[in-house]
Amino acid sequence: MVWFLCSGEPSTKSRKKEQIGQSPVEEPKQKAKPPLEVKRQVSANKPRREVSDESSSGSEHIAAQTFTFRELAIATRNFRADCLLGEGGFGRVYKGRLDGINQTVAIKQLDRNGLQGNREFLVEVLMLSLLHHTNLVNLIGYCADGDQRLLVYEYMPLGSLEDHLHDLMPDKRRLDWNTRMKIAAGAAKGLEYLHDKANPPVIYRDLKCSNILLGEDFHPKLSDFGLAKLGPVGDKTHVSTRVMGTYGYCAPEYAMTGQLTLKSDVYSFGVVLLEIITGRKAIDNSRAPGEHNLVAWARPLFKDRRKFPQMADPMLQGQYPMRGLYQALAVAAMCVQEQPTMRPLIADVVTALTYLASQTHSPEAYTGHNSSRSTTPATPSRTRRDG
Ligand SMILES: Nc1ncnc2c1ncn2[C@@H]1O[C@H](COP(=O)(O)OP(=O)(O)OP(=O)(O)O)[C@@H](O)[C@H]1O
Ligand SMILES: [Mg+2]
Repeated sequence: MVWFLCSGEPSTKSRKKEQIGQSPVEEPKQKAKPPLEVKRQVSANKPRREVSDESSSGSEHIAAQTFTFRELAIATRNFRADCLLGEGGFGRVYKGRLDGINQTVAIKQLDRNGLQGNREFLVEVLMLSLLHHTNLVNLIGYCADGDQRLLVYEYMPLGSLEDHLHDLMPDKRRLDWNTRMKIAAGAAKGLEYLHDKANPPVIYRDLKCSNILLGEDFHPKLSDFGLAKLGPVGDKTHVSTRVMGTYGYCAPEYAMTGQLTLKSDVYSFGVVLLEIITGRKAIDNSRAPGEHNLVAWARPLFKDRRKFPQMADPMLQGQYPMRGLYQALAVAAMCVQEQPTMRPLIADVVTALTYLASQTHSPEAYTGHNSSRSTTPATPSRTRRDG
């Protein structure tokens, strides 16, 4: 059975989240050989389907478990409101308990009446089934029962990075500098896997703080490959007929032409890194004029290193290594360059951020700088451990 050829009713429903571009959805080519296929296989316990990547060696058989709608309804107590974890552009996410496999899971129930949702569901199942990395959310299985489409993921107990950066309740713990760098480095590693280890490369397309989920000890994992597509091979670039992504994270060339490259993900990563450092949202219309768009606000500040401390999240209360701040902002500045060719490879970003994350800083090591200060010495002050 070829999953990429599944069709659905055209829908007039628009996605809830803000999107860029109105071009029609690319129709699957009926005759083209799809890169991925789903085969039937019967296991000892219950019928299972295995997803195989025929374009690779053929030896990789990575199974995604199938669930009935009834099983998932029981797991979420009939999708009770108090099991609701959140809602995104494709539908609602519930916390559930699958007694059969003795695991707590997150179940994403896709809106039923959208062709986009259905197609993205199938893509997501295939992509996630093939991709495995410690910094990617694991897909446990899925349900395609009647017109129901659900995805079953490992449950990420600390929620999304967005939940820990923005609109915090007063009693919620602020992320410290070390944790922020650890999250940034882990997210970069997940992206590096998609860009450099997956074959063919995968362009993520929707990297943002709400798609970086956190496990125990703030271990980050990238989620939502519903928008991902198999990336370009060789020197060809992929021109998508449907420009998607979330406003504020989208690389300028992608927004304008729909041209999709690995470097558009690097741009989105730069925006996420800026959010991590500054505590500001990618787009925040409640801020003063000129500060709505994070990158537009940051660009002039990047030109003057003395202004870097003004960019640090006030919630850090000056508790960060000055040198680390400079370096992290330098990485972010490179990632959000206008010209895609000027942006670094994600592998180099990983190297830089892994180094920054390895530099653990105790509060005593800080030199007492405060992010509200408007001027600082041109040379970053060295802390005890900056080495
Ligand atoms: N595996 C998971 N474990 C725990 N919570 C999750 C999981 N997946 C999603 N969530 C929660 O559900 C919320 C909604 O996720 P969802 O992916 O549907 O929306 P989104 O990320 O805001 O937007 P988008 O649809 O563009 O991805 C997330 O912000 C997160 O808090
Ligand atoms: Mg998401």
